[in-house]
Amino acid sequence: MRVLVTGGAGYIGSHTVVELLTHGHEVIIIDDLSNSKKEVLNRIQTITQKVPTFYQGQVQDEPFLTQIFTTHSIDAVIHFAGYKAVGESVEKPLKYFENNLLSTIVLLRVMEQFNVHKLVFSSSATVYGTPTKMPLTEEDPIGGTTNPYGATKFMNELIIKDYCVAHPEMAATMLRYFNPIGAHVSGLIGEDPQGIPNNLMPFITQVAIGKRPELNVFGNDYPTRDGTGIRDYIHVVDLALGHVASLETMQQNKGYVVFNLGTGKGTSVLELVAAFEQANGVKIPLRIQPRRSGDIAENYADCTKSKHELGWVATRSLIDACRDSWRWQSKNPKGYNQ
Ligand code: UFG
Repeated sequence: MRVLVTGGAGYIGSHTVVELLTHGHEVIIIDDLSNSKKEVLNRIQTITQKVPTFYQGQVQDEPFLTQIFTTHSIDAVIHFAGYKAVGESVEKPLKYFENNLLSTIVLLRVMEQFNVHKLVFSSSATVYGTPTKMPLTEEDPIGGTTNPYGATKFMNELIIKDYCVAHPEMAATMLRYFNPIGAHVSGLIGEDPQGIPNNLMPFITQVAIGKRPELNVFGNDYPTRDGTGIRDYIHVVDLALGHVASLETMQQNKGYVVFNLGTGKGTSVLELVAAFEQANGVKIPLRIQPRRSGDIAENYADCTKSKHELGWVATRSLIDACRDSWRWQSKNPKGYNQ
């Protein structure tokens, strides 16, 4: 397939581009580079020996997007592009609503114009809000999101769902990611956060490299086995392969469909730190801090539906992910800014 990947220079996007190319698909990337670096394109080429076509720009720039659809006969779109910092979204809600919603609306409008009927949307477990039971299945209630970023993921699902009602020819797959970690085994691409990392794994790797003195553990008084928050950490390459599986099963999975992409296994903050230390032989000093506002005690997926309907399961272990995150960080201490 010829696949348009919006946000294809980002962390999950770049790993997905690699897997698409190695599975024989053709890739066209759109990215405004607002949270990514052009260097990632060279790295993708080194890994795959293939050159993805790249356009720098914004998805909501309709003339720009139309030009790309005119130039290339696109079969399917994977829509990653979006702002994703939870804290910033609370400070700047309009920035998030404008960017994350308008891009989807313009994308659907242009897809309609060019008769492109296959879409994979980058959704998140955040759409489940504050869940009351674990593990989470795709049938569990969504909404009740606790920040504008999460609200945009939820609202985008609604927009795409309603679009599918009006367009029965559509195949639209919502992939609800749990917590992606790890990096490509080559150590050439990985997560490259700007400024202080919001997420746990990039914070751990920056402590390991000596960039930060210690890890702040946000709360050890949750009702969990060791008091720290539990999440479902999934290797980013497994996540990327979930996108390939989604595209390749779209004929069967027509209409609007939703899949959780996780491992089905919860891991606490302290367990992840212990796994990282064991995998890499490094010590991570830590300090217990108060809870971070908006955090939930635990969050992990039931992935039965993905297994049966996508034929996909996560196969990489937590130790693999810890080793791969560290390989990326230690080979690229400044990320893509060498
Ligand atoms: N944590 C720390 N210290 C840190 C960072 C995180 O203790 O420096 C803890 C958090 O309190 C939480 C766990 O590590 O218990 C995971 O936190 P992350 O920030 O890595 O991930 P979240 O589960 O909070 O957020 C992720 C995605 C969001 C998404 C959310 C829900 O980053 O995009 O899952 O799906 F919205």
